[in-house]
Parts: sequence; structure tokens; C-alpha cells
Amino acid sequence: MKYQIWLLYHTVFFTSLVFGLDQCLNRDEECGSVDEQRQNENVIDHGGWRTNRQNVVGLEGPCNIPRLDAQHLSQGEFLKKYAYAEPIIIYNIDNSEFARLTERQKMLEDWREERVVLSSANTYSYTRVPSTFGDYLETHLRPQSLESLGNETLYLFGDIDPTTWKPLLDKYRQPQYKLPGHTAALSFGLAGAGTGVPFHFHGPGMFSTFFE
Ligand SMILES: *[C@@H]1O[C@H](CO)[C@@H](O)[C@H](O)[C@H]1NC(C)=O
Repeated sequence: MKYQIWLLYHTVFFTSLVFGLDQCLNRDEECGSVDEQRQNENVIDHGGWRTNRQNVVGLEGPCNIPRLDAQHLSQGEFLKKYAYAEPIIIYNIDNSEFARLTERQKMLEDWREERVVLSSANTYSYTRVPSTFGDYLETHLRPQSLESLGNETLYLFGDIDPTTWKPLLDKYRQPQYKLPGHTAALSFGLAGAGTGVPFHFHGPGMFSTFFE
């Protein structure tokens, strides 16, 4: 069987990693300095998206999916060797402008009042809840444990208005790799440590992570 997993969707998915869940970490400007150092050791901060290390549930390797440097992978080689044959990981694609625009503080400044629709994390995501981007960050976005129920977990996964979010999506530099007969549609999501999308199917796709 062949895998055809590239490029109908470029899914820009922020594996955002979230605040240490204690008051002080949530409001960093109010933090005293006494425990600061100890907290810093326990918190991963990527672009202002913070995760307490204890909430990281991913396991280290082994990973045997081929990793390819975008600076050395041509469209020709991509098509011939990988596009119709196997999944790959491509690294070294420059998206620094997009990364700057998706830092936590910047996103709050630009998108706080923007309407979004949250989906439940169970199969088929039956539940849809209208919210705003700021409300999502402040009340829903948090790490999930293995005990969290999918039907009771809400997150932002792709259900955004492509017109209002166009200024941001336009800044995403799409990888040069194309699949004949397909065009790309962009979607993005944002969720905390320990979350995951329910098992699902779609056409060829490419998935970019920021602030992992
Ligand atoms: C989620 O699923 C569990 C287990 O099936 C159920 O007990 C619970 O009531 C559900 N929660 C909601 C909000 O539907």
C-alpha cells in the first residue's frame, strides 16, 4: 500500500505548550524573584508558550522516519523518492517571520477578540463551541493528562475563518514541494502538552509545527 500523505493541506499546527498552571507562572510580570530560578528550570518557554516539564508526555524516540534537510531536497527528488512512497520529516525550512507573529504575546495583541470555534477532542469532534482566541488561551488551553476525556477537552483545531485570518496565514511560507493535481489549503491549530487529534483520515498533507 502506498502512503500519500503530502500536501493537500498544509496544516500549521502549533504544539503550544502551556503555562505551569500556578498563579505565578500565569502572570509572569507579577512573579517574585525568589523562586524564579527554580521555576525556570521546570518550565519550557518557546515563544512565550510555556509548559511545565512535568506535563510533557511525549517519549523520546526511537524514530525511524527519514529526516531530510530542505536545503538539499529538491522538488524532483521529493516527487521521485518520497511523495508517493513514504512519510518523511523535512527540516530547515525558514519560517522566522511566521514564528515571530505566532509568539504568544504577539498573537494576543493581534487576535485576542477574534472569533474561533473550538472542537472536542473525541472521534469526529462532535462538539463545537464558539469562543474567542483570547478566551481560548485563558480558559481552555492547558496541558492534558492521560485521564482527560476527549469529549470534555476543547481545542482550536483548524476551525478558523480563512478570510479574517488571512493576514497571518499569508505569512506562512509554504514549503516548495508540490504534488501534481493538488492545491494547498491552510489550516492551523493550537493546543497544550499532552493533547492530540483523534484518529482521522484525509488526503495528502503536510504538517508544520512551531514552538513544539
Ligand atoms: C464524556 O464521556 C464520558 C464517558 O463516556 C461521559 O461519562 C461524560 O458524561 C461525557 N461528557 C460530556 C460532557 O458529554
